[in-house]
Amino acid sequence: MREIRVETRSKNYTMYIGEGMLESSARLAAELGGVGKVCVVSDDHVDRLFGDRLESALKSMCFGVCRFTFPHGETSKCAETYLSLLSFLCANHLTRTDWIFALGGGVVGDLAGFAAATYLRGIRLAQLPTTLLAAVDSSVGGKTAIDLPAGKNLAGAFYQPDLVACDTDALSALPRFEYENGMAEVIKYGLLSDAELFSRLESPSGISMGEMIARCVSIKRDLVNRDERDMGDRQLLNLGHTFGHGIEKDSGYSIPHGRAVAAGMGIMARACAAKGLCPQEVPVLLAKMLDRYNLPCDTGYDPDALFAATLSDKKRASGGITLVVIREIGRCELMKVSLDEAREFLRLGLCPEANA
Ligand code: GLY
Repeated sequence: MREIRVETRSKNYTMYIGEGMLESSARLAAELGGVGKVCVVSDDHVDRLFGDRLESALKSMCFGVCRFTFPHGETSKCAETYLSLLSFLCANHLTRTDWIFALGGGVVGDLAGFAAATYLRGIRLAQLPTTLLAAVDSSVGGKTAIDLPAGKNLAGAFYQPDLVACDTDALSALPRFEYENGMAEVIKYGLLSDAELFSRLESPSGISMGEMIARCVSIKRDLVNRDERDMGDRQLLNLGHTFGHGIEKDSGYSIPHGRAVAAGMGIMARACAAKGLCPQEVPVLLAKMLDRYNLPCDTGYDPDALFAATLSDKKRASGGITLVVIREIGRCELMKVSLDEAREFLRLGLCPEANA
């Protein structure tokens, strides 16, 4: 078992990564906070796969257990599901010393995390990621949110979990498409600050699931410890996300997050090479890497529509935008640019030959 300790201004906690963590999470929660009630929050797919196992483990530690399950998919990450969950917590008389266990991928983690942050002004939270994407990103760092009709993640809170338990057995059983989606974020960490990780990803058997997750989360942990509320260095985690969010939005969210981030990184790498910010080989190496995991490195969306979708992102500061630019494999920087400059990055990234 691997342990990653996260120490933010608001809370310290540990992420445990290893086999059998679904069961061990019950004991770890009991050790942290004594035995009370747990509301397990999950979607219908994940609940069917793992809900009974987790409930048995919790009951064997004498926790009282109730389960809240909602239909899988991003459309459930909405105010209606959130309010139903709050009502469910009230109906089951959960108190501040009780727990929410978020069992699932990013949608479950974000929604259950936001409920944990706001119900009774905050109750205990365990994140149990069941997708690679949630394991390396959304389960750690305390970003919680729901979507509003006006856009993704527009209502939320920074609320750190008390415990993160990542069961590598559960992740090893992921469908191929889901695994590849998560690999986009793993490749992002290598490109961002771990050239050795990047090169080990050249062979899918070059690194174990546990080590891969631990290395990614250690990078995220260091950034979150320095900048919990995303005002500076944490924004480096947005590598590939600025244009990636535009791609997700333009597709009506039919393109999953990881694939959109992969294309966003490809666009940024070509733009940075065209501007002389990084060596010409960087976009070539990245494209090869993404292809290895069946991930796209470009998009066919119209540049103007894509730029408009990109600008609707909530992280845009008035009048400008902060891009994560690539300097070499394993080294990136934040760069504040005007909207015109950002448009030029997108143009160069989509059409590098226009610069020839
Ligand atoms: N997903 C990026 C972050 O947590 O800041």
